[in-house]
Amino acid sequence: MAEVTFDYRNLMEVEGGLRSDELDEARPRLREAVDELLGSSPGFMRLPKTEEYAEASVGLAEEIRSSGATDFIHVGIGGSALGPMAIQKSLNHPYYNTLPGEARRGPRIHFAENTDPNTLAAILDIADATGTWVNVVTKSGSTAETMANFLAIRGRLVEAPGNFGYQGRTIATTDPEEGFLKEIADRDDLKVLSIPKDVGGRFSVLTPVGLLPAAVTGLDVEALLAGAAQCVDEVNEQGAEHAAVVGATMHYLMDTARGRNVRVMMPYADALERLAAWFVQLWAESLGKDGKGSTPHGAVGTTDQHSQVQLYMQGPQDKVIEIVEVENHPRDLEIPKAYEDLAGVAYLGGHTMAELLNVECDATRKALTEAGRPNSTIRLGTLSEENLGYLFQALEVQTAVAGSLYGVNAFDQPGVEAGKQITYSRMGRPGY
Ligand code: PA5
Repeated sequence: MAEVTFDYRNLMEVEGGLRSDELDEARPRLREAVDELLGSSPGFMRLPKTEEYAEASVGLAEEIRSSGATDFIHVGIGGSALGPMAIQKSLNHPYYNTLPGEARRGPRIHFAENTDPNTLAAILDIADATGTWVNVVTKSGSTAETMANFLAIRGRLVEAPGNFGYQGRTIATTDPEEGFLKEIADRDDLKVLSIPKDVGGRFSVLTPVGLLPAAVTGLDVEALLAGAAQCVDEVNEQGAEHAAVVGATMHYLMDTARGRNVRVMMPYADALERLAAWFVQLWAESLGKDGKGSTPHGAVGTTDQHSQVQLYMQGPQDKVIEIVEVENHPRDLEIPKAYEDLAGVAYLGGHTMAELLNVECDATRKALTEAGRPNSTIRLGTLSEENLGYLFQALEVQTAVAGSLYGVNAFDQPGVEAGKQITYSRMGRPGY
């Protein structure tokens, strides 16, 4: 069972917080929004119980792992990269790529996301062409950044001495029927994994987009999906009473009724830093439309206590801070006793690093509350596949419901098209 809870008390109990009569008033609209979500059954709600994507991903991952792969380059951007990155950072060793082969659970993993030549060159410096697999991930099949990275990597593999054959070790993760990547896959006889037509990029982490890299690096894909399925079941049973759904109203009201239009997600775990980045895209690209939407921002505790918390405590009253707390960190280290004559240092001895992290988390929450700064907490029992799967699904549900409350289509992104068109025209793509 996934252990994920949402605590909104400090959105209500702080001075100027939300009142229960406001929530009562908003409830009928929330019910309508949830009914709409459950009635329309968008693709992302079906993913946790669709076995074919997990089976295809795990089957291919086994082939890759048993081929003696040394490196796995995941090429993609936006929704085609942020979810898989969040999974890796949350659940795999932070220095996974530098662990010796036998200590890792699979090949080294690299993300070619931006078009920064420095990053790509660095990946190519490390990846051993003789054992590299490439996974090109683009739902549309034509995103300039992804195709450019793919062409550059392909060029390197095709030219590598020994002609290892790029085709046998390249996967196209894309729309099952259309797009230029599908066309290339057909021509070059590449392996293909499908992104379902009715699942948009930022909702696609539980499709092969996130599942293949997870399985390749030895993570438990079934447990990820089980956590997400638990969330779907609970939302079906509890409807507008489900905590993630209630959160949609809370954040919507904080923005529209209190003018708090910045939503900070601040996990107290380095491992969840990319989860916040994933959520920032999900919330921003889904809701920022028609002059509406609040601005999501990612931070990490304790690190950003020494960078941003001053602003959160005493800056403009325009923010809601959402702490993500891990109750039991998967690893812990005792702080040894030393310098016992130095009171300002000695007090740390005998405690543990996890204890300090969680005490600082609690201290920040209390300080924010006492300063009249609304905050909420998402609590994870630990960092596990099940909990992460649950959280992905819960935040997707919350975002989709918030879309209905704002009256925007959470599933499109017309605002990113204009820049794409200009880029295509400047780079000489015919027809633009
Ligand atoms: O959420 C989205 O739809 C976007 O962020 C896309 O994931 C991103 O633009 C990449 O698109 P594609 O997968 O088509 O390359």
